Amino acid sequence: MKKILIINGPNLNLLGKREPGIYGKASFEVYFNDLQEKFQKIKLYYFQSNHEGALIDKLHEVGYSFDGIILNAAAYTHTSIAIADAIKAIEAAVIEVHISNVYARETYRHKSYIAPNVKGVITGFGLQSYELAIRSFL
Ligand code: DQA
Repeated sequence: MKKILIINGPNLNLLGKREPGIYGKASFEVYFNDLQEKFQKIKLYYFQSNHEGALIDKLHEVGYSFDGIILNAAAYTHTSIAIADAIKAIEAAVIEVHISNVYARETYRHKSYIAPNVKGVITGFGLQSYELAIRSFL
């Protein structure tokens, strides 16, 4: 069975409570359980951290054994050369996702340091962005 890890970066532990007009009212844990039920042929894993180094450690940990990583690096997308380098270092395919359409928001969100190192980018479909990314592994 394919193993896919979803990684959420800073402030995404607050999904459901945080700016619901932009990020929606659902908590990620509930959505994650729905996803696992929907995709029974894939084993899904979930990790969230507010710490850049912890995100990098997790990429290293699974990056040579998992089939894919779906990464919402949140604000680190726009700042982190270290996460971009980690993605380049590992073997697993990484898909960058965002809940909101970052290109319809502030210009500082238009720059992604990680985009050049990922397989593809999905942005702006709400939580469905994660599902679309999973479908690409089917
Ligand atoms: C986000 C977009 C980022 O610009 C922002 O910093 C986030 C969430 C999204 O999923 O829409 O925290 O990655």
